[in-house]
Amino acid sequence: MKEWEDQKTKLVASIHSASTLDELEDIRITALGKKGTITGLMKSLGSLDPDKRKEAGQLLNAIKEQVASAIDVRKVTMEDAALETQLHRDRVDVTLPIRPESNGSIHPITQTIDELTAIFCEMGFSVADGPHIESDYYNFSALNIPPEHPARQEQDTFYLPPDETGTPRVLRTHTSPVQIRTMEKTTPPIKIIVPGRTFRSDHDATHSPMFHQVEGLVIDKTSHMGHLKGCLIDFCRAFFGVDDLPVRFRPSYFPFTEPSAEVDIGCTRAGGEFRIGKGDDWLEILGSGMVHPRVLSGCGINPDEYQGFAFGMGIERIAMLKYGIPDLRPFYDTDIRWLKHYGFVPLDLPTIAGGINR
Ligand code: DAH
Repeated sequence: MKEWEDQKTKLVASIHSASTLDELEDIRITALGKKGTITGLMKSLGSLDPDKRKEAGQLLNAIKEQVASAIDVRKVTMEDAALETQLHRDRVDVTLPIRPESNGSIHPITQTIDELTAIFCEMGFSVADGPHIESDYYNFSALNIPPEHPARQEQDTFYLPPDETGTPRVLRTHTSPVQIRTMEKTTPPIKIIVPGRTFRSDHDATHSPMFHQVEGLVIDKTSHMGHLKGCLIDFCRAFFGVDDLPVRFRPSYFPFTEPSAEVDIGCTRAGGEFRIGKGDDWLEILGSGMVHPRVLSGCGINPDEYQGFAFGMGIERIAMLKYGIPDLRPFYDTDIRWLKHYGFVPLDLPTIAGGINR
């Protein structure tokens, strides 16, 4: 048995001095593998006298465990060291200035999402997302749009074959399904925005089959129409960078909100020039309303206890308005001239402190 102890000491020493994971694995196989030395000794226990067998068995088990744990410890040390070396080798200096020859730029959609995210996050919203392929339930029914509802026709939906359980599927026609997904899994208060891709079968100078929306949702016990108005007025003024921008709320209808309102901002078209701000004209930019009690209760939220508001707007549309981009189609053409002209400097991230508008 002294021999076994010596053998263990040698094994542990070789484990400590192993310098590669392969070497360590070889040691493990030689000692503990199916045909390993320790395994062999364990097998030979059967030939011992029963009284000796017990003692020898305990000792061998202890040795086996010590060797196995020495291997584990060494392995972790080696993996840590390897990671450390790799991190050191792959180090980048993030403070280096941008290369002068680099001419990539930030797409106006990304820029606009960054801008509106900065504004809403400052108001306490967080960002949520959801799948592009949705079930008919999340895209329509849960939003109080039952199968025969005319709102379904208006949405030019791309229908997909049902999934393996027979559930009808669509490419989401708006970001509103993420409201439902969030309400189902979160106990209020909820305060989210959902920027993301949406899809409708429509294509002309102002419509694209793939476009972007941002959805907003606030649910708690006290938020009312006054909060909806304050939130959206503040957003419009911050986003367009016009402190006294007139914002008008017009009664409207959406199946998932009651009451509902569309929001217009002031603009002028005087003298053939289009400008956002005080003027004689209005431009619709978003839809909003108080979340319908039926939508709340469908998500397991008690409408007698909770209430709140929602809104949705097209990101391309507000980007085109803010940056004077006349046509929607080149957004997705990857035309380098267009990207250079309308793109933004990569490291110039919009923040409330640093500025949303430049
Ligand atoms: N889902 C609507 C659409 O795609 C936009 C919208 C309107 C979203 C009103 C809302 C809302 O959350 O309250 O046209």
